[in-house]
Amino acid sequence: MKFFIDTANLEQIQEAQNMGILDGVTTNPSLMAKEGISGEENIINHYKNICSIVDGDVSAEVISTDFEGMVKEGEKLAALHSNIVVKVPMIKEGVKAIKYFSSKGIKTNCTLVFSAGQALLAAKAGATYVSPFIGRLDDVSTDGIDLIDQIRLIYDNYGYETQILAASVRHPMHIIQCAEIGADVMTGPLSAITALLKHPLTDIGLEKFLADFNKANG
Ligand code: G3P
Repeated sequence: MKFFIDTANLEQIQEAQNMGILDGVTTNPSLMAKEGISGEENIINHYKNICSIVDGDVSAEVISTDFEGMVKEGEKLAALHSNIVVKVPMIKEGVKAIKYFSSKGIKTNCTLVFSAGQALLAAKAGATYVSPFIGRLDDVSTDGIDLIDQIRLIYDNYGYETQILAASVRHPMHIIQCAEIGADVMTGPLSAITALLKHPLTDIGLEKFLADFNKANG
């Protein structure tokens, strides 16, 4: 399973990259705003900076909600770097835009997906990635992981090549459950990724190994 980090924070992206386990980055307008990135030039430069840190796909989201606007924005974003993936919302105009981008060989990530029907449409339009938001489904008492399971089944039934990118991942169990089901990618915060490291027996064991070494070696 590929690990993407879901942030626009350059330090956190660098930290995950330094661990050697990072396969890509996802951003969205909220995450860009959280880092105080605004204005077209700053946004463009920020995407370029992210691409210079990570050797993997970087999702950059369009703001337009009409086909022509999405195409204009997406083509500009895609021209920034070969690793840019144009992130497009799951609306009718977005489906049209994904179809257009896929016919032009431009990678896409269909975002704001909350149902299997939406994921089916994204695959039919030729999206490179589909992003079901599992944490936000959990927030409204609907099992987000079940949706990943459902999409996996549907995509495998027909051999769709669209990669399931589990998004809105909030904690390490989300990551583990996504891996069990066979999500192609998960994107989550650095905290969820580093939480995978943690086990008290590892800490206790390491402490004992080092204590024994120090006793034996003076
Ligand atoms: O990748 C989508 C993600 O950014 C949404 O996460 O935590 O805002 O639901 P969250």
